[in-house]
Amino acid sequence: MNILVTGGCGFIGSNFITYILKNRKEAKVINIDKLTYAGNLANLSDVIREYAPSKYQFIKGDICDKQIVEDIFKESDIDWVVNFAAESHVDRSIDEPAEFLQTNILGTFTLLEAARKFWLDPASYITKKRFLHISTDEVYGSLDDIGYFTETTPYNPSSPYSASKAASDHLVYAYWRTYSIPTIITNSSNNYGPYQFPEKLIPLIINNAIKGKRLPVYGDGKNVRDWLHVEDNCSAILAALKRGLPGQKYNIGANCEKRNIDIVNMICDYLDKKLGLINGKPRRELIDYVSDRLGHDRRYAIDASKIINELHWQPSVNFERGIIETIDWYLQNTAWVEDIETGKYLEY
Ligand SMILES: NC(=O)c1ccc[n+]([C@@H]2O[C@H](COP(=O)([O-])OP(=O)(O)OC[C@H]3O[C@@H](n4cnc5c(N)ncnc54)[C@H](O)[C@@H]3O)[C@@H](O)[C@H]2O)c1
Repeated sequence: MNILVTGGCGFIGSNFITYILKNRKEAKVINIDKLTYAGNLANLSDVIREYAPSKYQFIKGDICDKQIVEDIFKESDIDWVVNFAAESHVDRSIDEPAEFLQTNILGTFTLLEAARKFWLDPASYITKKRFLHISTDEVYGSLDDIGYFTETTPYNPSSPYSASKAASDHLVYAYWRTYSIPTIITNSSNNYGPYQFPEKLIPLIINNAIKGKRLPVYGDGKNVRDWLHVEDNCSAILAALKRGLPGQKYNIGANCEKRNIDIVNMICDYLDKKLGLINGKPRRELIDYVSDRLGHDRRYAIDASKIINELHWQPSVNFERGIIETIDWYLQNTAWVEDIETGKYLEY
């Protein structure tokens, strides 16, 4: 079972590689990652120790590079592709969209073309080959106070990031309809957990609050996200690979809507209890409301009943437990954060 994972040195990709190697004894993972600012080899140091080289191989490369991608398909008989590689930060996409279009759309296209070239049997889905594209609920746009995203909600992306993910989703589906490439798409809600790059809301707030730095919160802080522990996303992705049907998409979420400000308060209160106050003051006083993000979506909420009913998947991490474990992870891994802050991780 040869699994090509793209973007495996990022947050979700590295958690997934660890998860699949633990849970599928027959799996061999080939990880292609360009090592952008978001890729960190340290995320996989345990995997390298335990599984390289027989069950884990790393290739530094760009998914837009046709030659490298074709060489991988030529040299290894790839059974599953799991495409995590992407530019993933909405704020960066607002400042500099070009790289988002390049990696998220053209990179996905390059991978699809390789699958079309090397998965010769037009009915290769019968042989259990799978091209699983990892996507986001942000493709659906913003919700008002009521309602949920289902798999049939029309796409209505707001940011260059979500627009580029939407474009790649359309391409992935088109390769199923047109060429019978056995593609599947998962659209998950916001993930949290260990190894998330500290520019994203939860790790940013945790790390700033640990150090007593200001805690920037967009707008009125009442934007709602639907939180999913990364390990639950990994189990859902594996369920989609094993039992998902080609041409289908599956929403993944844990029915866990929270306002940003409530999460920030939760982190402040836990750290106050665990580490004591900052200069005699509660960390909530570090909250700094800043101008809202351009085009900021108000609310996301996932209806995950399709994957629950059809693939028998269930989330297992309760948010109150998951957030505390995540805060504790960042407290125990200050060297990991420091290497990112000083840029040392780029030299590994
Ligand atoms: N983080 C979330 O909450 C979330 C939610 C839903 C969907 N997603 C999707 O999940 C995937 C992974 O997200 P993440 O948060 O782990 O992202 P991340 O930014 O932490 O990691 C992305 C990884 O992709 C690599 N990469 C970037 N461009 C590349 C290229 N051209 N070629 C090869 N590798 C490249 C980076 O080096 C990095 O290791 C993305 O596709 C994202 O859209 C993320």
